[in-house]
Amino acid sequence: MPERTPQQRGWFADNEANWDDRADFHMAGGYGGVEDLVADPSAISEQLAQDIHHFGDLGGRDVIHLQCHVGTDTLGFSRLGARRVVGVDLSENSLAHARRLAGAAGVDIEYVHSNVYDAREAVEGHFDLVHTSLGVLCWLPDIAGWARVVASLLAPGGTFFIRDDHPMFMTVADPREDLPGVLSIEYPYFEVEEPSTWEDDGSYVEAPDAPRIRHTRNHQWNHSLGEILTSLIQAGLVIDSVEETPYSAWCPWPELMVQEEGRWRLRDDPARLPLQFAIKAHRAAEADTGTTPVPTA
Ligand SMILES: C[S@@+](CC[C@H](N)C(=O)[O-])C[C@H]1O[C@@H](n2cnc3c(N)ncnc32)[C@H](O)[C@@H]1O
Repeated sequence: MPERTPQQRGWFADNEANWDDRADFHMAGGYGGVEDLVADPSAISEQLAQDIHHFGDLGGRDVIHLQCHVGTDTLGFSRLGARRVVGVDLSENSLAHARRLAGAAGVDIEYVHSNVYDAREAVEGHFDLVHTSLGVLCWLPDIAGWARVVASLLAPGGTFFIRDDHPMFMTVADPREDLPGVLSIEYPYFEVEEPSTWEDDGSYVEAPDAPRIRHTRNHQWNHSLGEILTSLIQAGLVIDSVEETPYSAWCPWPELMVQEEGRWRLRDDPARLPLQFAIKAHRAAEADTGTTPVPTA
C-alpha cells in the first residue's frame, strides 16, 4: 500500500497491541490443544490438514505463511517436509510464542515480525507456496495492495492458497432477541476506507481462566469476493479454484449454529449463507509465456 497516513499507522498499532494480548489469551486457553500438537512429531493442525491436498508434495519446497499468529499451522509445513518455512506476523508476542513452540517441536522456522504489506522487503527470496488462512483478510485495509505482496513473494509456478471467513458472513450482525433466528446484514460487504472499530476483551476462542485482553480496541475491514479475486488476477495470478462453504472454523452465534465434524454451520437452512471461502491460484511459470514479469509489491 502507498505511504501510510498517521491514521493508518494508528489502526495498525491498535491491532498489533490487541494481537499481542490475544496471543497470551489464546495460549493461556490452550489454543485448540497446541501443546499436544507440538508434542506429537507427526501431528498437523486440523485447519491445515483439511487443505494439504491442494499443496502437492512440499518436500524440498519453500513456504511462506502470512499472518501466522502463534505458528500452529506453520509448524505443519515443516512436518510436511518443506525445506524453508517462513512465518510472518504483525504481532511480536505471537511470534515469541511461535518461536518457543517451534523450539519445543525441534523444527527450524524463520519467524519475521512484519506488517504483511512490508513482507516483500522483510523477507528474502521467492516461495513455492504462499499460504494464509482463517481470520486474515479482515485485518487488512487494502486488498489490492495485499494481492501485490502475495504475487511478489511467489516463485514462478508457485501456488497461492487462502481459506478465510466469507465476506458475506462478515456482514451479518449478532442475533437480536426480538428477531429470533433472523440474520440481518449490518456491516459493509465491499471494501471501504473507514474500518469497523471494536472494543472486545475476549477473542474467538474461549479461555475462561485467562486474564482478559487489555488492549481491547481493534479495527477490521471487509472485502467482497469479487474484490479479492480481481486483486489477485490484476496482481498477475492465475485462479485455479474458488470454493464457498456453509461451514465455519468458529462459532460467533451459539444460539444459531451447530457443530459438525469439528466445524460449525447454521442449524437452520445452512444454504442461506456462505461462511468460508478458499481460493487456490498460481503464478505462471516463466516457460508458460516466456514474458512473465516478476511482480513487485
Ligand atoms: C486470526 S489470526 C490468524 C490465525 C491463524 N490462522 C491460526 O490458526 O492461528 C490473525 C493474525 O493476523 C495478524 N495480523 C493482523 N494484521 C496484520 C498485518 N497487517 N500484517 C501481518 N499480520 C497481521 C495478527 O497478529 C494475528 O496473528
